[in-house]
Amino acid sequence: MIVSSNLMFNSYLLIILKSLLTWNICSCLETYTLEFNNSMKIVNTLPDEFVSFGLDTSLLRNMSFLPIDQSKFILLLKHLSPAYLRVGGTASDCLYFNKVLENGFIQSDQSYVYSQDISNFSISSHDLIAIHEFSKKTHLRMIFDLNVLIRKSDFTWDSSDALKIISTLKERKAQNVDWQLGNEPNSFPHVFNIKISASQLAKDHCKLRAILNYNNFKNSALIGPEVNHIEHSRSKGQIYLKEFLKTASDCVDYVSWHQYYLNGRTATREDFLNSTVFNILPDQIDIIKNVMRSNERNIPVWLSETGSAFGGGAPKLSNTFVAGFLWLDKLGISARNGINVVIRQSVFGGDYAMIESDLTQNPDWWLAVLFKKFVANKVFSIDSTDNLRLYAHCTPKKVSSGKSSGVTLYGMNLNNKPIQIRLRNLSQKTNAHIYVLTSDDLQSRNTFLNGRVLRLQENGDLPAFLPIIQDLRKPIRIPKTSMFFIVINNAKLTQCFSK
Ligand SMILES: *[C@@H]1O[C@H](CO)[C@@H](O)[C@H](O)[C@H]1NC(C)=O
Ligand SMILES: *[C@@H]1O[C@H](CO)[C@@H](O)[C@H](O)[C@H]1NC(C)=O
Ligand SMILES: *[C@@H]1O[C@H](CO)[C@@H](O)[C@H](O)[C@H]1NC(C)=O
Ligand SMILES: *[C@@H]1O[C@H](CO)[C@@H](O)[C@H](O)[C@H]1NC(C)=O
Ligand SMILES: *[C@@H]1O[C@H](CO)[C@@H](O)[C@H](O)[C@H]1NC(C)=O
Repeated sequence: MIVSSNLMFNSYLLIILKSLLTWNICSCLETYTLEFNNSMKIVNTLPDEFVSFGLDTSLLRNMSFLPIDQSKFILLLKHLSPAYLRVGGTASDCLYFNKVLENGFIQSDQSYVYSQDISNFSISSHDLIAIHEFSKKTHLRMIFDLNVLIRKSDFTWDSSDALKIISTLKERKAQNVDWQLGNEPNSFPHVFNIKISASQLAKDHCKLRAILNYNNFKNSALIGPEVNHIEHSRSKGQIYLKEFLKTASDCVDYVSWHQYYLNGRTATREDFLNSTVFNILPDQIDIIKNVMRSNERNIPVWLSETGSAFGGGAPKLSNTFVAGFLWLDKLGISARNGINVVIRQSVFGGDYAMIESDLTQNPDWWLAVLFKKFVANKVFSIDSTDNLRLYAHCTPKKVSSGKSSGVTLYGMNLNNKPIQIRLRNLSQKTNAHIYVLTSDDLQSRNTFLNGRVLRLQENGDLPAFLPIIQDLRKPIRIPKTSMFFIVINNAKLTQCFSK
C-alpha cells in the first residue's frame, strides 16, 4: 500500500549546491512508502511449478541440433526445477510418430531458427524416449503436445498416432507426463488454412481424456485449448475459448492460453521499458477471467506459452538484460492476478532462448533461478505504479532460515533515475536482504547482482547470492532501470507462517 510519495532531500546541501553550480542539480530521491500488516490477504497460492518452461516442437524436426545428451544443458535445466517442460508449438500439429511420410522423413535443418515451417515431419520412438529421459534427468515434468490436425474423413480427430505415442510411454511406465492437443486452434485458418470449430475441438479433448484414462494416465493432466489472440473483449481467442469450455470443461484440468507483448521483428529497446506495453497483460488476464466467470467449474488457468516477443523473439533484445523487465513483471502480474502456471517460451532455440546454442545462460535464466529461490507460493496484492512495479509474496522457508514468516518484495524501477522505498509496520528488529540486478548495458547478456556479475561456479553449482543487508528503518535505494528482490526474514506476517 503506497501511503506517500514525497521528495526527500537534504535542503541544506541543495542550497549549497545550487549556489555553487550554475546547472540545476537535485540530490532528491523520490520515496515510496509501503505498509505491511497482518490483515493483508493472500490472493493466490501457486504450485511449485509456477515458473515453467517451453521447448518448441520445431526443435524435434532435427534432434541432432537439440543438446539433450549434454551434461551442461541438463545441469542448466536442473537449476530451474521444479517446473514443467512443455514440448509444444505450431510444429506439434505437424508431428507424426514412427511414420514414413510421402517424401521420407521430412525434416528441416533450421532447428535453431523459429520458422513458420508447416511441413509434416515424424519422430521415432527413440526420439520420444530420449526427450522423456531428458525431462527425467532435468527433474522437469514433460508436457507433450499432440497433433490435432490428423483427422478422419468425417473430420473428427484421428487418435491412432497419439495412441502410439501414449502406448510407447505407457510401455516404459513413463506415467509422469501431462498432455495437450493442438496449438493455437483459433489461428488454424490463418496458419494451416483449416478450420476446426471450438465445439469439435472440445469433443476431441474429451476423447483424448478417455484414451488417457484407459491407458493408465488417469493422473496425467490435460491442458487446453492453447488459444492465442486475447486482445480485446471480442477477439477470436476468447470467443473460441468460451465455446470450447461449454463442452470441454469436464475434460480439461487446466485452461490454457498464449500471450506475447510484441512482434519480435519490430520490437525496440524502448518497447521493452514502456509501461504501456507492461500494462497489456493485466487487461488480457481480465478478459480470460471474464470468460472463466461464465463457467461453473473453477478450472485453474495457465499462461502456457508466453514470452516478450513472438516470432522467435527480438534479436539482441530477448536474450539480453532488458528483456528481464517484462519477464519478471509477467511473473508478478500473473501471480497477483490468479494465474496458476506461466510457461516461458523458449528454454532453447530462437532469439528468446534462455539458454544459447553454446550452452551459456541468458539474463532471463538467472531471473528464473532467483525467482525460484526468493519467492514462495503465497501471493499478496500490493499497489505499485507504472514505473515502480512491485509485487510481494511470502518468502520460501529455505531462505528465511527456518523462520517461515518472511516476506519477499520484488519488482523493478523502470525510471531513468534512482528511487527509494521505505517499508513500514514490519517488525523493526529484522533487516532487509537486498538483491539488486543491473547490467553493464541494457542490451548486454550479463546480469550483475549487487554489482557483481553472475556466473556459475566451476563445478556447475549456483554461486552464493550475496545480499546487501540493511536496517529496515533506512529507506532502500533502488538504482535506475534495475530489478530487485528484497527479502525481509522474520517479518512476522501471520499469513506467511506455516507448520
Ligand atoms: C492493512 O493493509 C491493507 C492492505 O494494504 C489495508 O487495506 C488495511 O486497511 C490495513 N489494515 C490496517 C489495520 O491498517
Ligand atoms: C540434421 O542436422 C544435421 C546437422 O546439421 C545434418 O547433418 C542432418 O542432415 C540433418 N538431418 C535432417 C534429416 O535434416
Ligand atoms: C500434413 O498432414 C495433414 C494431416 O494429415 C494434412 O492434412 C496436410 O495436408 C499435411 N501437410 C502438408 C504440408 O503436407
Ligand atoms: C509507449 O507505447 C505507447 C503505445 O505503443 C506509445 O504510444 C508511447 O509513445 C510509448 N512511449 C514511449 C516513451 O516510447
Ligand atoms: C504503521 O506504522 C505507522 C507509523 O510507524 C503507525 O502510525 C501506524 O499505526 C501503523 N499501522 C499499523 C496497522 O500497525
